[in-house]
Amino acid sequence: MKLDVFTLFPEAFEWFSSQRPVRNAVQSGSELRFYNYRDTTPLGAGQVDDAPYGGGAGMVLRVDVVDAALQAAYPEAARPRVVVLGPAGRLLDDALVRELAIEPHLALLCGRYEGFDQRVHDHLADDEVSIGRYVLAGGELAAMVLADAVIRKLPGALGSAESAVEESFSEALDEAPEYPHYTRPPLYKGWDVPDVLVSGDHERVREWRLQRSRERGEALRGGSGQG
Ligand code: 6GU
Repeated sequence: MKLDVFTLFPEAFEWFSSQRPVRNAVQSGSELRFYNYRDTTPLGAGQVDDAPYGGGAGMVLRVDVVDAALQAAYPEAARPRVVVLGPAGRLLDDALVRELAIEPHLALLCGRYEGFDQRVHDHLADDEVSIGRYVLAGGELAAMVLADAVIRKLPGALGSAESAVEESFSEALDEAPEYPHYTRPPLYKGWDVPDVLVSGDHERVREWRLQRSRERGEALRGGSGQG
């Protein structure tokens, strides 16, 4: 997949880009690129934002600036799916991550300040995605959350011993949280490990894990008042 991030702070992604799953995905043929709105702004002095019409606090990212960035990156006929990160968007969950992970080409637009001129949403973006109902100072952390979740679904992102097939909220677990994991020591401060996990009986282990996953799913539904 090609994943392009538009941001005023590409340096914020340095640590993220150096993480193993990201490097693995890139080595397996995925591409991760960063574009700074300031590099292509048609305005003078690197200006990218402006005061809101009607007054009010904060600054708004201009539609001409965002359009110029997209035009510089893509020929008109080859626009990828353009996703704006914003608190009011569609909530990110595993189903949306899976949907995005099969796109051949995605562009993530990060905003700062009071966000984007509405015409970015209306005419330039295909979707708005939010990582939760709270407000962040900018879209960068949300873009990293989205990119992390998408990239781990790509072939080659995880080591051969790991897999995103049977993880929390995957279809393999009926979209329930994952089962609990244990490792050595078998007994610590009187806290023990379920016998079945050390029994060597793979079928019983499998059943036990599915059952724990199901219980966690039920607890989540019962406990959160949603779903
Ligand atoms: Cl995607 N952006 C911002 N600025 N705040 C958020 C968010 C996104 N998701 C939750 N809060």
